[in-house]
Amino acid sequence: MTTTGSSSRKQQQEAMGMSCCEERERPRKSCAPVHANAGFAAGVLFALLVYFLVRQQTAISAATTAALAQWSTVKQLIRAPGETQLIKAPGEILVTSDVHRVADKQPIQDTDNGKVVCTTEDRSRGLSGTCEVEGDIRTNGTALSVSLVPASWSERHEWMISPYTRSGQSLRVVTVTQLQDRAAAPPCTVTHTMPAILFGIGGYVGNYWHEYADILVPLFVAARRYHGEVTFLVSNIQHMPRWLVKYRALLQGLSKYGVVDMDRDAYVRCFPRVSVGLRLDKDLSIVPELVPGARLTMADFTRFVRETYALPRGAVTMEPYKKPRLLLIQRATSRQFLNEPEIARAAEAAGFEVVVTELRHDGSEVEQARVVNSFDVVLGVHGAGLTNAVHLPPGGVLIQVVPYGKMEPMARFDFSEPATDMGLKYLDYSVSAEESSLLEKLGPDHPAIKDPDSIHRSGWTTMYQFYLMQNVRINTTRFAPTLEQAFNHLRKQ
Ligand SMILES: *[C@@H]1O[C@H](CO)[C@@H](O)[C@H](O)[C@H]1NC(C)=O
Ligand SMILES: *[C@@H]1O[C@H](CO)[C@@H](O)[C@H](O)[C@H]1NC(C)=O
Repeated sequence: MTTTGSSSRKQQQEAMGMSCCEERERPRKSCAPVHANAGFAAGVLFALLVYFLVRQQTAISAATTAALAQWSTVKQLIRAPGETQLIKAPGEILVTSDVHRVADKQPIQDTDNGKVVCTTEDRSRGLSGTCEVEGDIRTNGTALSVSLVPASWSERHEWMISPYTRSGQSLRVVTVTQLQDRAAAPPCTVTHTMPAILFGIGGYVGNYWHEYADILVPLFVAARRYHGEVTFLVSNIQHMPRWLVKYRALLQGLSKYGVVDMDRDAYVRCFPRVSVGLRLDKDLSIVPELVPGARLTMADFTRFVRETYALPRGAVTMEPYKKPRLLLIQRATSRQFLNEPEIARAAEAAGFEVVVTELRHDGSEVEQARVVNSFDVVLGVHGAGLTNAVHLPPGGVLIQVVPYGKMEPMARFDFSEPATDMGLKYLDYSVSAEESSLLEKLGPDHPAIKDPDSIHRSGWTTMYQFYLMQNVRINTTRFAPTLEQAFNHLRKQ
């Protein structure tokens, strides 16, 4: 068994999706303390978002670009079984003989005006609005617009939808229009008989937790019902092209048709149905009752990921002479374990095989997931790295170490229910003042030590500067019962 040496630590963290990117703070002016429960939840959520915010790397390797070009179907002729599609340059005349449905000549539903059902932006939860459009639809990538063409005259309506789940992001907004009549509708350059989902990359992408919570889980919810017969229209790809490469397997697992780079799409595409934006019902989880067309759970999502990545372990199984394996996640800058070797020894004493693998920074998402899947327990201080728990086999354990300063609501909000919904056992351990670097740094009389509420009242920035910038030295005697609980849970399987 191996435990980390400090030299391997950085590589390991980078591989775990934590330190490759510079973490930075971006306080929002409107983040005033709120006292209602919902408001508080939103507040802590926002705190988390900012805390997780990382700057993406802008350099894209040649290999990455090549891989993207190969996969992206921007200008490729797409022919699906049972459907005929022609892609022509705008202005060219479609050869209609083998096109059974050309929208401007023969509407999808002659008498149907179609429908648009939108949700509005939810400011209290910081979520963008979404629209479900059904009928005779035209998309225009240049204008980033989605228009519903009615069969007969109807009232014109317009919605502005951010294609990123969390509001307040600087992405181009999608204009969803219900046109008055057919006269205003541009002819189709491509006619798709399958539905499309339009979403954007940007916002907090670059942070592992947000990549799953803001895009991958909501996309699974939106797309799973189509069994691969769906086209993804992705906007703001230029924000981070390598994102599509990183998650290629998952995207391909949800759509057989790849991705249309919306901002560069010169065609007018016609669809019978388009979802604009992704709905985020629950952070890093799924509300089964709200899934369109099927009842899906967060456990279904992690199963989908395991199947797509071909992860070998679909459940925790305890073998008589094998110790359960615990992955200790160390962070690069803030919220580090100061006595990591001692914690590793305590975990070994509790019966675990403590392995800290040296993953390569440029290792693939799939390889990283495979490594995590070989463990039974993930242990770490609150942070995006704990998102790796999605790759644990069900029945496994996530142990979150909560930094000092009444951080439990925020920490739990992001990992407790998600982990439980994934079929994992969730445990946390709250750091005492004695275990925090803050005590030594500030002294026992500082308000950050004596009165955490006052720090939370003074706003996000102050809270961040104190409680999210501490390191922890875990009292392993005090921590031992948590390790024991994790061990006992696994032994019961
Ligand atoms: C798409 O939108 C752009 C920008 O509004 C516009 O100039 C262009 O004519 C539109 N394309 C078609 C085919 O209508
Ligand atoms: C560690 O925790 C134990 C049990 O809570 C306590 O008795 C002991 O004093 C603590 N040790 C230190 C150094 O704080």
